[in-house]
Amino acid sequence: MRSALLLLPLLVGSASVGCRGGADRPGIAVMPEMFHSVPYDAHDPNGVLPRGQTLQPAPLGTVSRGFSPTHYAPGPEEALRAGRELTNPLPANAMVVRAGARLFASNCAVCHGPQGAGDGPIVPPFPNPPALSANHAKQLPDGQVFHIITHGQGIMPPHGRQITPEDRWRIVLFVRWLQDPNVPRVAAPGGGS
Ligand code: HEC
Repeated sequence: MRSALLLLPLLVGSASVGCRGGADRPGIAVMPEMFHSVPYDAHDPNGVLPRGQTLQPAPLGTVSRGFSPTHYAPGPEEALRAGRELTNPLPANAMVVRAGARLFASNCAVCHGPQGAGDGPIVPPFPNPPALSANHAKQLPDGQVFHIITHGQGIMPPHGRQITPEDRWRIVLFVRWLQDPNVPRVAAPGGGS
């Protein structure tokens, strides 16, 4: 206890030294290795690596962890092929549909409307998107809807860059649920991107 009391002024002293300085003078770092890491940071210049950068492009043919490569190019023919080849890998349960509903609300409802009726708030200067409850959309296979979300269709912009493949499948399930909330759909194994 006594030694702790003796240490107190020392601690207060070093804390006040460490805190001195303004916003552009950060003061003294008591333990600099806590602030500056030994390895290069991603955006540090680097004399050893190509182009003098630490951050290097991924080697050709590699795939980031958690991502599946896209095997489909944009366009209606590829959309049809995705419709034939892909199945939704996610289980059709309430949790997935709810997650899909949230994603639909933030990514799609602005044009398609909250219930997919083609009455989103962005519509007036643009042509209405077709209702997702129409027979045409009902008959699109899951894989084709996935492709349309990924690459867009006509004037609908692609969403592949901002929505992960898994989240796209969640949206597909929600679209199915919008089209027919009473029919529980059983997902087949498979999937892709
Ligand atoms: C900027 C407005 C806009 C956004 C955002 C948007 N869409 Fe679309 N969508 C459209 C338009 C317009 C069409 C009609 C495109 C065409 O065929 O010319 C369309 C078509 C579709 C179709 C095909 C319907 C059919 O019957 O052919 C589906 C399915 C679809 N969108 C789903 C989605 C989903 C799911 C999202 C969210 C991830 C989304 N869209 C986001 C405007 C949008």
